[in-house]
Amino acid sequence: MICLGIESTAHTLGVGIVDCGRVLSNAKSMYKPPAGEGIIPRNAADHHAEFFLPVLQQALSSAKVSLQEISLFAFSQGPGIGQCLRVSCAGAKYLSAKTIKPLLGINHCHAHLEISRGLLGMEDPLYVYVSGANTQLITENRLQGKGARFTVLGETLDMGLGNLFDVFAREAKFLYPNGSEVARLASSGKYFPLPYTVKGMNFAFAGLLTSAVRSIGKHSTEDIARSLMETSFAEICEAAERALCLTGKREVTVCGGVAQNQRFCEMLADVCKGHGARFGAVSPEFNADNGAMIAYTALSEWKRGKREKVDALKPNGYWRIDEVM
Ligand code: FE2
Repeated sequence: MICLGIESTAHTLGVGIVDCGRVLSNAKSMYKPPAGEGIIPRNAADHHAEFFLPVLQQALSSAKVSLQEISLFAFSQGPGIGQCLRVSCAGAKYLSAKTIKPLLGINHCHAHLEISRGLLGMEDPLYVYVSGANTQLITENRLQGKGARFTVLGETLDMGLGNLFDVFAREAKFLYPNGSEVARLASSGKYFPLPYTVKGMNFAFAGLLTSAVRSIGKHSTEDIARSLMETSFAEICEAAERALCLTGKREVTVCGGVAQNQRFCEMLADVCKGHGARFGAVSPEFNADNGAMIAYTALSEWKRGKREKVDALKPNGYWRIDEVM
């Protein structure tokens, strides 16, 4: 069964095609705001509308399949930026109607989790989900129909890990204000203590961000970047270790955009080693926002029996992972 999935929750428009768990193509185009600016919803949505057709065509030609060969369509229904979500929702509804094929709305966070679990061949891991807007420790209840499908054991009490780095990079006036640039500078910096906030299995970054911004001009940018990363990663590692002890899970996967950070993966792998748990992360292509993860998850959900009335599908910008049925 071939599924075409469309992702457009934030800056990335992605179209991926998956055939029974095998990724055939994963095309994308990213909206890049001018230096010093965050995502402007209207501009990001305009970008997605403009590039919808070329990205769709690229995905189909890379996969060597025609639109008529697609058996199932899927789109990222939420959470995300409302104006961006509407692009994939409208596009997917049109494709579904044109080809008379079914359509599923997929939770973006669930897609990050599912493609990581599936491609790594894990059974029932503890998920460490780290992206711009979301930072959560999640487990799945694999017994169908028994309570909530996913449980958030711990999460950020203020901002997502990716946003922490992006805001700091903008405040420090980096030429490339993003997490990759913070990571690049951190690799040659020295650690100094910054505020560290863990409450049970929850964590917070606002005090850490304020302190890091106030350190600009007093410490080198490299040292601040290093200390910001080490402190925030250590917070999540402490909470993840607590979650690992509580649940007794034997597998841990890190997923989402910030999972591409090698230092964070090293730190989590160390925690897992101490508890005899297997650690894994998929390649950056599948941890960044992408359409293949939407298609991959839709196929799992279809197999699980999920069916939807296409007319009733609409974006849900505030759809939490623990509301997924
Ligand atoms: Fe994401």
